[in-house]
Amino acid sequence: MVASFADVGTVGFIGAGHLGATLARLVVRTGRDVVLSNSRGPETLTDLVADIGPRAWAATPTEAASAADMVVVSIPFKAYRNVPPEPLDEMVVVDTDNYYPQRDGNVPELDDESTTVSELLQAHLVRAHVVKAFNNITWRHLIGQGVPSGTPGRRALPIAGDDPTAKHVVTGLVDEIGFDVVDAGSLAQGWRFQRDTWAYVVRLDRSELVAALARASRYRDVTAEEKREIAERMQAAFST
Ligand SMILES: NC(=O)c1ccc[n+]([C@@H]2O[C@H](COP(=O)([O-])OP(=O)(O)OC[C@H]3O[C@@H](n4cnc5c(N)ncnc54)[C@H](OP(=O)(O)O)[C@@H]3O)[C@@H](O)[C@H]2O)c1
Repeated sequence: MVASFADVGTVGFIGAGHLGATLARLVVRTGRDVVLSNSRGPETLTDLVADIGPRAWAATPTEAASAADMVVVSIPFKAYRNVPPEPLDEMVVVDTDNYYPQRDGNVPELDDESTTVSELLQAHLVRAHVVKAFNNITWRHLIGQGVPSGTPGRRALPIAGDDPTAKHVVTGLVDEIGFDVVDAGSLAQGWRFQRDTWAYVVRLDRSELVAALARASRYRDVTAEEKREIAERMQAAFST
């Protein structure tokens, strides 16, 4: 496993849709190479690769994982069991995925809040080091809101994970593409910035994000008033 983002030369992407492709563009701007993959095959990524430029190439998910120093999984959550575990052994894996039952189908252990999205991916990728990140920012905001470190009011993004080194690597990635980082704790704490929480989609600086994470309630405990306010804030954020 790499020790820091400075050691990363190539980032692999399993999933190259709205979020994955946007993140790949930002990674290329940091001077790294990216290898993109999807479910339909590398030949379907020719236009995207050409658009991103010479630092990008396409492969299968297994090839992308094997060629990279760290990997981003950015797919519809329902497909997570299709991610190949073996090539991701001992690798830092960023999980951007969200669970939307209407898209992904109902998952009882998520509906009863006995686990979280990224814990399920970690259980599937037994020997990888999964870090939850980028799930709470839209691809438009990801490409549009990054600013250099030290800029007043810089947006902060949360991460969660069980391995300190993996979190250090992902912190470097998030910072280099333009955002402060707030460590929300272990993977099990990832619910604090899952969909429909105070930290979801809304633009927050570091201190605001710390407060939003602390204020989070499990879905079963969210009051109707909180639900309405969270929805209003998300709606306002989507329209910016
Ligand atoms: N869109 C956002 O702004 C945003 C923001 C934060 C988080 N997220 C989350 O990030 C994830 C991706 O979102 P998105 O909007 O980027 O989705 P998207 O535009 O629909 O793209 C999904 C990508 O995943 C690929 N994929 C699907 N099944 C796969 C598999 N079995 N193996 C490899 N690749 C597979 C798709 O490839 P094919 O087309 O070939 O199937 C496509 O490249 C979701 O969980 C979403 O909730 C999205």
